[in-house]
Amino acid sequence: MSDAPERPLTAAAGDGSAAGVLDRSPDGQSAEAAALPDSPASAPTAPAEAIVVLDYGGQYSQLIARRVRDCGVFSELLPHHLPLEEIAARRPRGIILSGGPASVYAQGAPALDRGLLELGVPVLGICYGMQLLVHELGGRVEEAEVGEFGRSDLHVAEPGVLLAGMPHEQTCWMSHRDTVFEPPPGFTALASSSASPVAAVEDRARDIYGIQFHPEVVHTPYGQQILTRFLTEVCGCDPTWSAASIVEDQIRRIREQVGHGRVICGLSGGVDSSVAALLVHRAVGEQLTCVFVDHGLMRKDEGEQVISTFRDTFKVPLVAVDAETRFLAKLEGVVEPEAKRKAIGAEFIRVFEEEAAKLTGGEGSVRFLVQGTLYSDVIESGGGTGAATIKSHHNVGGLPDDLQFELVEPLRALFKDEVRAVGAELGLPERLVWRQPFPGPGLAIRIVGGEATKERLDVLREADHIMQDEISNAGLYRELWQSFCVLPDVRTVGVQGDERTYGYVVVVRAVTSDDAMTADWARLPYDLLETIASRMINELREVNRVVLDITSKPPGTIEWE
Ligand code: XMP
Repeated sequence: MSDAPERPLTAAAGDGSAAGVLDRSPDGQSAEAAALPDSPASAPTAPAEAIVVLDYGGQYSQLIARRVRDCGVFSELLPHHLPLEEIAARRPRGIILSGGPASVYAQGAPALDRGLLELGVPVLGICYGMQLLVHELGGRVEEAEVGEFGRSDLHVAEPGVLLAGMPHEQTCWMSHRDTVFEPPPGFTALASSSASPVAAVEDRARDIYGIQFHPEVVHTPYGQQILTRFLTEVCGCDPTWSAASIVEDQIRRIREQVGHGRVICGLSGGVDSSVAALLVHRAVGEQLTCVFVDHGLMRKDEGEQVISTFRDTFKVPLVAVDAETRFLAKLEGVVEPEAKRKAIGAEFIRVFEEEAAKLTGGEGSVRFLVQGTLYSDVIESGGGTGAATIKSHHNVGGLPDDLQFELVEPLRALFKDEVRAVGAELGLPERLVWRQPFPGPGLAIRIVGGEATKERLDVLREADHIMQDEISNAGLYRELWQSFCVLPDVRTVGVQGDERTYGYVVVVRAVTSDDAMTADWARLPYDLLETIASRMINELREVNRVVLDITSKPPGTIEWE
């Protein structure tokens, strides 16, 4: 049994202070066990030099792939049962076997295809991956009397190639109960810990390596260095994968795909669609037209910012549709959350179709549609390619099938943090690069228990603006997954000056999360909360009470509806 958390997600001590609360890196990746495609149709635009990470079900296998990329080498995460030919066809420079929850000796445990070891490519097993190698090659793996979970002291007896140049005593992060007691014949044991007699092995002649601990988590301080040594010293990779190289590579690929064709892109103001649009614009210039539908449910000044960034700064041809009146009309009398979402989604499609129709038909019609699909979407949706995979993307409301476009997906190979790096490389302003996730149906789903009227939207927009302003002033914007306000359709009694008031309650919600699957309420400093609350009450005459949501996910969701 083996698996490791990406990072220990310690919440604040509960003393109400901010200490230790916001210390999570926001760049985490999906904590979901990746539901990998059975047979990924193709590598997502892999460059010449790539590492294959085979997923044995470790909850954080994606993190290994990301850490490899952090070292400057492209990596792809593939299911462990992918046929050998498909792995070989990718001509990887190295193969990493991930951790996983099984015991190598258990019936039905994911096995090792021995052909992997005949490909002439170095193999590194991590945790379960190491146990698998050891077990298959004649070493001894057994359940230990005590497990080893968390920080451990690693004693390096023989550095070998992986641990060379590093301290002989170091800390590492372990997460296993099964343990390697003896390396297979031909292997050298490199290190041990109190609970792991054999914590790292190598066989240089066959280029096979194993480490019991997790180099991908931040609690293994030399983890990144160890991975780098595997990639450069063992696999001979040239660490050139970077935001700049991605930009160059994608521009070339987009030009190849699109030729002289015309392209349309639905801009939402979010980082994915913004970066995708900018890449395509860099590649094919005015062949691209962006469509920005302002449904009137955006945050304060957001529409203007998107328009000025793309139209004025980047000179991207942009059709901006002010559709507030249309959307508000559709939202009249709608209270139920899903009904709101449906009304907004359907209207979005109508507006987008109308704009697309103006650009299509006849000479020079639009053939391509840009989508900001990310690598995590590719992994989670089964890895298919082509037009059939137009997904019902929240932000574009789910485009109907009869919109016959060929997809351009320049972010298909990238994790979210790489998208941000590309955005920065392309000169996208910080506030767009680091924009917190914002739901497609916008502020409408933050007015709960009531209709999203213009009056309520305006109150919520102003409250949200104050919240963003103070969170940014406190330097916390990037650390939080999301920070926002909710406006329940509730009024309470208050007293201001000598007068009784009867005003709205604003709910302040801030969460930390790695992937939105789970989230913890952020322990914002009391002083900051006080500033936020008093600004809202002083500046917004409709508001007389501010409350804080301290619900984590689960049991709550991040949004209120
Ligand atoms: P929940 O509320 O389910 O949200 O914990 C998880 C993440 O998804 C976002 N979210 C949405 N995004 N359209 C979107 O584009 C939606 O209808 C929607 N509902 C929730 C939410 O902001 C959070 O990041």
